[in-house]
Amino acid sequence: MLKIEWDRSMEIGIPKIDAQHQGLFDLIKTLDGTLHYDAGTEEVSSLISTLNRYAIEHFTEEEMMMLSFHYPDLVSHRMLHDQFVSRLEGIQRDFDDGHHVTENITDFLMDWLITHIFGVDQEYKRFMSLQSL
Ligand SMILES: [Fe+2]
Repeated sequence: MLKIEWDRSMEIGIPKIDAQHQGLFDLIKTLDGTLHYDAGTEEVSSLISTLNRYAIEHFTEEEMMMLSFHYPDLVSHRMLHDQFVSRLEGIQRDFDDGHHVTENITDFLMDWLITHIFGVDQEYKRFMSLQSL
């Protein structure tokens, strides 16, 4: 079960984006708890699709923001978002086909999110800060 807790070092300094990142973080933690306590399949399925929807909304918003700042790495950043969404859709499909979803999946999702925030999300924030000087 995931032990990690949200803390302010994970913020990039844009309140709306930070709130969305925390929303994703919380959804992954909830899914993790649900898998750990072997909750009903309906609950797991609905959490995966909520996470998928929420991720798409958040990524779209981030990409629009990068576009408005003419961010040069938008294409490669978008590719990372798309890969994450494809992975989530794959998880959903596997689950709907009756495959067991294990907690390894939430380890992967959380690792991805944290690495993404501390890596490429910090990079676009730096770029935006320099642009607005
Ligand atoms: Fe991102």
